[in-house]
Amino acid sequence: MSAQLIDGKAVAEKLLEKVRAGVEERLGQGKRAPALAVILVGDNPASAVYVGSKKKACEKAGIRSVAYDLPASTSQKELLEIIDGLNADAGVDGILVQLPLPAQIDPQAVIERIDPKKDVDGFHPYNVGRLAIKMPLLRPCTPRGVMTLLEEYGIDPKGKKAVIVGASNIVGRPQALEMLLARATVTVCHSATQNLAEEVAGADILVAGVGIPNFVKGEWIKPGAVVIDVGINRLDTGKLCGDVEFDVARERAGFITPVPGGVGPMTVATLLQNTLDSANLNA
Ligand code: GUN
Repeated sequence: MSAQLIDGKAVAEKLLEKVRAGVEERLGQGKRAPALAVILVGDNPASAVYVGSKKKACEKAGIRSVAYDLPASTSQKELLEIIDGLNADAGVDGILVQLPLPAQIDPQAVIERIDPKKDVDGFHPYNVGRLAIKMPLLRPCTPRGVMTLLEEYGIDPKGKKAVIVGASNIVGRPQALEMLLARATVTVCHSATQNLAEEVAGADILVAGVGIPNFVKGEWIKPGAVVIDVGINRLDTGKLCGDVEFDVARERAGFITPVPGGVGPMTVATLLQNTLDSANLNA
């Protein structure tokens, strides 16, 4: 049997509409539109594509975006000064610094400089901590977007075995915290995990975020499992593919996200949801 495809593009469109309605509501109350500062340093082509789609989505949702396209030679001090200015600017609700950053800039110093109330990426230790203690404020976009997808498809993680492949700060770790918050029994696999195939085979819900094409083999998937593929990998052929061996996995899974058109659009839409939340929290 073939899995039901989870249409991230459609759910993201719906979420963008919801954000747009939230923006209209603010305007109706005489408040200003939410504003997001998007900072791109250097010329990483993938980052440029992601930042472009974030700006475009802002337009769709009625959010004002302020772009900072900085040269690869930008110093850490210069970047931190820009962040200080945006932190102090009452007209800016969200600050996003696209990662990765050039080698001369310490990403953690940058993340920790952003006012946690404007941290729409949810990467500041304050926001990670809030999620860890079951009191989330601003939540990392990709894991929150995954939870929205599950909800839209009526999949409740409560009591299920959730297995996360990858333990990054952007995906795996916050995803584990989200799943725990949703009362799943959570396993996090990483490069020191002994028997990955066995761990994956135990998953009712699998989330893969490692950034390696076809890393998770389709034959490992438990029949009927929910497979969420966060990977966006570009092959030499130019084609995009995920971290899961899709063609084999879709024959075993109950639900599966495609790449592209699965989690990717949800990350962008969730960023705008976070920006609206941030505006409503702050003013
Ligand atoms: N690079 C890859 N994913 C992300 C993300 O969600 N936010 C930011 N700022 N950079 C990223």
